[in-house]
Amino acid sequence: MATEHVYLTTPIYYVNDNPHIGSAYTTVVCDVLARLNRFYGKKVLFLTGTDEHGQKIEKAALAKGQAPQAFVDEVSQKFKDLTQILGCENDIFIRTTEPRHYKAAQSIWQTIFDKGLIYKSTYEGWYAIRDEAFYQESELVDGKAPSGAEVEWVVEESYFFKLSAFQDQLLDFYEKNTGFIMPDSRRNEVISFVKSGLKDLSVSRKSFKWGVPVPNDPDHVMYVWFDALTNYITALGYPDVTSDTFKNFWPQTIHMLGKDILRFHAVYWPAFLMAADLPMPKRIFAHGWWTVEGQKMSKSLGNVVHPSDIINMAGLDALRYFFIREMPLGSDGDFSATALKQRYHSELGNAYGNLAQRVLSFIAKNCESKVPGKHDLHEADQQLLDESMKVFHDIKELVDNQATYKYCEKLLHLVSLANQYVDFQKPWSLRKEDPIRMETVLWVLVQIIKRISFLFQPILIHGAGKILAFLNVPEDQRSSSYYDACLEGGHPISQPEPVFPRLED
Ligand code: MSP
Repeated sequence: MATEHVYLTTPIYYVNDNPHIGSAYTTVVCDVLARLNRFYGKKVLFLTGTDEHGQKIEKAALAKGQAPQAFVDEVSQKFKDLTQILGCENDIFIRTTEPRHYKAAQSIWQTIFDKGLIYKSTYEGWYAIRDEAFYQESELVDGKAPSGAEVEWVVEESYFFKLSAFQDQLLDFYEKNTGFIMPDSRRNEVISFVKSGLKDLSVSRKSFKWGVPVPNDPDHVMYVWFDALTNYITALGYPDVTSDTFKNFWPQTIHMLGKDILRFHAVYWPAFLMAADLPMPKRIFAHGWWTVEGQKMSKSLGNVVHPSDIINMAGLDALRYFFIREMPLGSDGDFSATALKQRYHSELGNAYGNLAQRVLSFIAKNCESKVPGKHDLHEADQQLLDESMKVFHDIKELVDNQATYKYCEKLLHLVSLANQYVDFQKPWSLRKEDPIRMETVLWVLVQIIKRISFLFQPILIHGAGKILAFLNVPEDQRSSSYYDACLEGGHPISQPEPVFPRLED
């Protein structure tokens, strides 16, 4: 069977400000999905990066008294460093100020222009710099953008993209491809927006310079979203669409993004692609937003949470785990240090960590640090082993739907079944009463702890690996093809140390 491909993308982050947990969230979700897909044997490309043009960035640079290029170099580096700090294994980090991106953005512009789908006129209307978005009068709420951003009246010569010409084609596409926009509630939202009528979109600006120059008209720079969305194909080598990378990965694209930027991804981007005769990505997945301790996160409220602070307090695994476990992808969620600690202690420390700790230290102490031999399997043993295979197959399916929350739930359920099994089988009592039975019970538990740890690897990039190291599973034997391979009697077990130590208050 041919290897399946998956191309996972985060939005590219605006560099007007430093990263926070909102931006860290999508990157971690994509990293977990990338690792899961790789685990199940797929070929993955994982892209993240920074969005460095537009009026908002130019303003931020000016406010700091820096030239835009120097400013974006500095802030982009912070985002790049953050992907490392978050333990992310992205294959590409793209910056929209790179020459390869200018080439791609100008090329797609030219293609669309040559087809008569971009024309020059005058834009007259509202613009919100913070959102880098145009708004209709009817969309304004109390004189502001629906997001609360200030708007200004703009009258400017501008190039327009004939978005209106794509209304029917878009609706037809959404109808035929029901999994294109996820979750369903968001899909309906997009469909009703498109049905309400699409106006042509202003795609260039003349009143400032910080952008990709429009081909053959250097007075204009591209509207930042036109340039930004193109990053996804720049990274695959566009304008060359003949490479294997482009052909294999592009149709398997999963764009992950926040609900606030769905319209750009689910309406404008597909229309640009249709206009350029390029294939569609596979899916646009819009996730929800984090509030912090019940409140919107904002600089003015002074409640912006920085990932590094959480990592310093609780460790990287705790943060990654909380991101996946607390908020079903698509819903909103609340970020609080108390909830994070509580989940860390009860689900990682007490449930998973303790399971490994008590079983492996018991083996180290009572079985000469070796996996005991397996004898007759009882029904309870077989049930638990079967369940671990079922979870493996269920998660494989969940990954194809980006159902990260359910994946975590399934895995926790297996942890809880394993703990119940320990409590019920009581290996420590069996040691005197029935040592042969004790050996089988411990053998079963070793296999289960190994399997749970295999499946936790994409989230708990440190903890799961440590437990697999206590089990002496070689690093090159931790992928799905080794999932059901058993650690047989005599296999060495190292003395474990606590993997999820309690956090201080
Ligand atoms: N530059 C554009 C994206 C261009 S993609 C071609 C942009 N950048 S952003 O930095 O403002 O936002 C990046 C992502 O962070 C968005 O998906 C947004 O939803 C997400 N988040 C920002 N704050 C967030 C929360 N509080 N919670 C969850 N995600 C949030 O938009």
